[in-house]
Amino acid sequence: MISDTLFIQFKDLFYSLSGIALKDYKKYLVEYRLQKFIGEGKQFAGYKDLYDALVSGYDSELRREFVDALTTNYTYFFREPEHFAFLAYYLKQYAPRQEYLRFWSAACSTGEEPYSIAIMVKKHLPSAFSNVKILATDISDKVLSIAQRREYSLEKIQKTMSHDTVKKYFKRAKNEALAKVSQEISDMVVFKKLNLMDPYPFTKQFDIVFLRNVLIYFENSEKEYIINKIASTLKPGGYLVVGLAESLVGVRHNLKQLKYSIYRKEP
Ligand SMILES: C[S@@+](CC[C@H](N)C(=O)[O-])C[C@H]1O[C@@H](n2cnc3c(N)ncnc32)[C@H](O)[C@@H]1O
Repeated sequence: MISDTLFIQFKDLFYSLSGIALKDYKKYLVEYRLQKFIGEGKQFAGYKDLYDALVSGYDSELRREFVDALTTNYTYFFREPEHFAFLAYYLKQYAPRQEYLRFWSAACSTGEEPYSIAIMVKKHLPSAFSNVKILATDISDKVLSIAQRREYSLEKIQKTMSHDTVKKYFKRAKNEALAKVSQEISDMVVFKKLNLMDPYPFTKQFDIVFLRNVLIYFENSEKEYIINKIASTLKPGGYLVVGLAESLVGVRHNLKQLKYSIYRKEP
């Protein structure tokens, strides 16, 4: 647990490192976002130890990771691998029987999530199946333009992808430290600006909607509104995937809960 004093100290430190004031951030959100550093087998035993290490200023990599973790656009390739294992299963098991395939990355941030989905499609779907698209939306123009540039730090992507995957689905960028998502992968992805609270202008239903690590920004009533709207965009038997640490407790919906924060619409 973070004490009120420590909460303010973290916010001040974050402001001095990033220039971003976490005005509406609640304490639980800071706790949630920093929990990857804390606990058994992690870098620090408690939040105070993390804070002390950050202010000691010796570890600039730790400071960078801290800023990343508290930034709302935080994401990376193949985040929460359980969901990509599920996608692989779906692609092998169900996809070949579908007339068309549509996946939606509903808060896509800088593009790592939709490109990870596209890589899985390329890896696991029989190549004869061509009617497949991934829609990637976000409320922020800034992240969408980064996503469409499709260039990522080579050092970072190598942390969550095998050498083979990087070699196969990325090209060298002009800047040696970056890698660019290949054309065949990016051709599957369509980026659009969309606020999840606005009407959804879709004509085709989705197989799987990835609504991950965005629900924590909404009140329960807003979550309910969004979840039910998304449920209506799913194919019968389609799936909704939320972040592993997110919960739909207290949210009324008609989806069936499965493992790993995955929900299914009645077939
Ligand atoms: C932490 S990122 C999640 C990225 C990715 N889904 C993941 O799990 O790694 C949250 C994203 O939600 C977007 N977002 C926040 N509020 C939104 C809204 N009302 N409609 C659409 N996107 C929103 C932010 O711009 C941000 O890019």
